[in-house]
Amino acid sequence: MKRIIISAMSHDRVIGTGTGLPWHIPEEYAHFLDCVRGNVMLMGRKSWEIFGGDVVTAANIIITGSAEFANAQSAAGIAEALALAASYQRPIFIAGGATIYTQALDADVVDEMWLSYIPGTFAGETRFPEFSTADWQDQERRAEPRYEFVRWTRREKCPE
Ligand SMILES: NC(=O)c1ccc[n+]([C@@H]2O[C@H](COP(=O)([O-])OP(=O)(O)OC[C@H]3O[C@@H](n4cnc5c(N)ncnc54)[C@H](OP(=O)(O)O)[C@@H]3O)[C@@H](O)[C@H]2O)c1
Repeated sequence: MKRIIISAMSHDRVIGTGTGLPWHIPEEYAHFLDCVRGNVMLMGRKSWEIFGGDVVTAANIIITGSAEFANAQSAAGIAEALALAASYQRPIFIAGGATIYTQALDADVVDEMWLSYIPGTFAGETRFPEFSTADWQDQERRAEPRYEFVRWTRREKCPE
């Protein structure tokens, strides 16, 4: 099943204030909810506490070192979360926060990134990890009135 990072960020990669999103763009948030609806969502514990009440998914898998949650399964890391997610045979959305995006990209387990770019400058503690266009190709760009959607796919690598 395809493993897709989904995120919204400013052009300097801010994604969050620590307690929520730095902007109020309901149609972009609706786009996120539409994408994950009926699919499998992976999230870090802090993001789950912020956004978990809004999603309608086939399964929620929360990466955490400790807690147990209603309406979600817990996993001790990205590998365990992906192993649990695989059994649903549905697209897997890796939905943040920054700690989870970073671990997923470092582990090289992401097929696509669906990123919404929000114009403007925002104060925020949390940033999307840097990535290289040597590794990622912009397959699709769509201008929406208040953001730009870009679908990035992983470039093929020559076998070593
Ligand atoms: N703009 C967007 O698209 C978007 C999307 C999602 C989130 N956000 C923003 O991102 C911010 C939250 O992100 P964050 O990076 O601070 O937190 P986070 O990634 O949502 O959650 C961090 C927590 O995940 C757990 N965790 C992470 N790696 C783990 C591992 N390897 N093993 C076990 N547990 C692990 C830990 O939970 P425990 O402490 O329970 O052990 C850790 O405290 C918020 O501001 C939110 O609004 C933005």
